[in-house]
Amino acid sequence: MTGIYDEAHDLGHPSMSAALEQEALDLLVEDATRSISTCESVNELDVLASTLRGKDAPLILARRSLGQVTDEAERKAAGARVGAAMDLVASALEARRGVLQERERRALLEADRLDLSEVVLDAVRLPVRRGHTHLVAQTRAALEDVFVAMGFEVAEGPEVETDWYNFEALNIPPGHPARDMYDTMYLDLGIPETALLRTHTSPTQIHLLEKAVAEGSLPVHAVMPGRCYRLDTPDARHLPVFHQIEGLVVDRDITFGDLAGVIETFTSAYFGPDIHSRLRPAYFPFTEPSAEFEITCTICRGEGCRTCSRTGWIELGGCGMVDPAVFDAVGIDPAKYSGFAFGFGIDRCAQMRHGIADMRALIENDLRFVRQF
Ligand code: PHE
Repeated sequence: MTGIYDEAHDLGHPSMSAALEQEALDLLVEDATRSISTCESVNELDVLASTLRGKDAPLILARRSLGQVTDEAERKAAGARVGAAMDLVASALEARRGVLQERERRALLEADRLDLSEVVLDAVRLPVRRGHTHLVAQTRAALEDVFVAMGFEVAEGPEVETDWYNFEALNIPPGHPARDMYDTMYLDLGIPETALLRTHTSPTQIHLLEKAVAEGSLPVHAVMPGRCYRLDTPDARHLPVFHQIEGLVVDRDITFGDLAGVIETFTSAYFGPDIHSRLRPAYFPFTEPSAEFEITCTICRGEGCRTCSRTGWIELGGCGMVDPAVFDAVGIDPAKYSGFAFGFGIDRCAQMRHGIADMRALIENDLRFVRQF
C-alpha cells in the first residue's frame, strides 16, 4: 500500500513535494527567522522582508509548487502548512520591526534631548565661561557699600508710582513747570490715581518718611537705589531707562554742612582720593536750598577736557535740604526735624569711573564690552 504522500510523490515533482513537508518548511522558517533576528535596522529589515516575499524566496516557491499537488486533500493540508509557515515568518518580521522601531525612536529622542542643565564638555569642547553681574549692578553694589560704611541703610521703592509720590508729595503740584523735565510713561491701572513709571528715586523718600511717621521710627538715614524712566532719546549721556541712587537723612539738627560733608566723603571714597566734590546753587521743588553736585572730571582729573567742557568738573546729581513742604506732606514737624537729600545717576557713576565714552554701550549687550568689567 502506498500512502497519499507517496502518491503525491509519484504524481507530481518529487522535490517539490519534499519542500512541502513539515520538516522542510520548519527549516525554511528557522532560516528566515535567523536572518530576521540579525537585522539591526528597520531599513535592513525592509530589504530582507522584500527578499522573503520575492518570487525566488523558498517559501514562495513552496507555495507556488502547491499547484502541482494533485491530491486535493493533500494540497489543502500542504497549503495549510505553507500558510502557517508564512504566518510564522510574517510575525517574526513584525516582532523584529517593533523592536527595531522602538530602538530607533529612542535613539532619535536621545539625540534630540535638550537638557538645559547639561554641560557637554567632552562632546563639543565648548569653552565654558562663567557669567557675572552687569557693570551697572556692580556699580550699584559698590555705591551701596560706600554708604553702608557711612551708616546708611539701603531701601527700595516701587518703579510704578502714583502722581502723589512722584510729584505732589515732592512739592510738584499739577501744572508745576518742574514737571516738564520729568516726562514719562503713564499707565492705566484702573485706579482713581494717575499712575506712572517713576522719573526719579525721590518718591522713595516719601515712602520711607510715611513709614517712619506711621511707625514712629524717625530718624531716617537711608540710600535708595533703583531704576527710573524718562522719555529721553538715548545719547552719549542719557538713557530712557536708567538708575539713580537717592540719599535721605532726616534727624535733629541736620545742616547743609552735613550734606556737603557726606557728598565729599562719598566722592573720595568711591572715585579716589584725588576726586573732590563741589555744590553749585540749583533748584528742586523738594529741597531748599538746592544744589547741583559736581565732581572733579575723572577723565582729565580736573585739568579741563572735552568731556567736562574744559571746566574740570562733571555734574553727577542734585541735592539740598529737605523742603518744609515735603515734611508737611508726610506729617513731620519741620521745627523738630531737618534733613538733606541727594540723588544721582548710577549709570553716570559707572561711566565716570570707567571712562565710558557713550552710555548706550551699557545696554547694547555687546559681550566684548560686557566682559571688560
Ligand atoms: N530727584 C532729582 C532728579 O532726579 C535729584 C535730587 C534728589 C535732587 C534729591 C535733590 C534731592 O533730578
